[in-house]
Amino acid sequence: MKAVVTGGTGFIGSHVVDLLQKKGYQVAVIDIQPPGVFWKVPTGVEVLEMDVATEECEEFIASYQPDAIFHLAARASVIESIHNPHEDARTTIDGMLRVLEGARRANSKKVVFSSTAAVYGNPSVAMPIGEETMIGPISPYGSSKLAAEYYLRVYRELYGIDYAILRYANVYGPRQGISGEGGVIAIFSKAAIQGKTLRLFGDGGHTRDYIYVADVARANLLAAEKDGSFVLNISTGTETSNRELIDYIQAVAGHALDVSQEPERPGDIRRSALAPANALSTIGFKAVTGIRAGLEETYRWMRDWVHHV
Ligand SMILES: NC(=O)c1ccc[n+]([C@@H]2O[C@H](COP(=O)([O-])OP(=O)(O)OC[C@H]3O[C@@H](n4cnc5c(N)ncnc54)[C@H](O)[C@@H]3O)[C@@H](O)[C@H]2O)c1
Repeated sequence: MKAVVTGGTGFIGSHVVDLLQKKGYQVAVIDIQPPGVFWKVPTGVEVLEMDVATEECEEFIASYQPDAIFHLAARASVIESIHNPHEDARTTIDGMLRVLEGARRANSKKVVFSSTAAVYGNPSVAMPIGEETMIGPISPYGSSKLAAEYYLRVYRELYGIDYAILRYANVYGPRQGISGEGGVIAIFSKAAIQGKTLRLFGDGGHTRDYIYVADVARANLLAAEKDGSFVLNISTGTETSNRELIDYIQAVAGHALDVSQEPERPGDIRRSALAPANALSTIGFKAVTGIRAGLEETYRWMRDWVHHV
């Protein structure tokens, strides 16, 4: 099996590449950034420094003829999308069209797309949020991801290319930097290791659904290998509050952390968790790494790489 991974030198993408290579896939990576210091590109994996939203990218996919495309390239930040909505849209929407046109010309069978909980916005429904929930993004990032999801549906109708839309909860784990969508565990761990004060916005009651990166990589593989088209939350369904996170990190660090409580940030969603049941029934995916075990792995990794993150 041949695969292209866009965004493959990034945090989640590099874990997807490692897993695909281990499973015997022939892999080519498209990313605008070269691999960082903490990821060793596996043997046989080709890395092309290329902008996903370009004709060059489409041409490459058309000629490489992958069976599946794992499309992760994005400016993965809500805040950045508010400051620079054009660049966010260019990467996510033009990027999706380049991927889809490449897939059409290559007769690829499937596109696995990294989407996000941000497509749901701030819904007034009970947690955890199901995939059928009325969607209403409240950021340029969520809007462009939702638009990209619709292009996948259109190309399924027009050309029969199957899609797997994977809406991730907050992903964390080794190789995550301190910016980006789900970086709070990386930010807290880095501060704990460097003996700095942790900045806690609000009363500590804000919750997120944290999913470990190795589980997310496995979900990508399962989604690619299952026939058909589907939209799935990739999540644990469990909420962890900032206060709990701090307690867990203190336990892993083995010392008390200095925490400064600051005013709640406007627009910060108070609670978030995504229902994981459809991922289990559709592709047999269940997250297996609990928050404590995942945090320990992340913290251990962070200790070695703290000056590069
Ligand atoms: N981290 C999370 O919690 C989370 C949650 C939901 C969805 N996602 C999605 O998962 C995907 C991967 O996110 P991540 O956390 O690994 O972030 P990341 O920033 O580490 O990875 C994104 C990669 O895309 C690359 N990229 C950006 N613009 C590009 C362009 N124009 N052309 C080619 N490559 C480009 C970056 O260089 C980077 O390597 C993204 O699509 C993101 O929106 C992430």
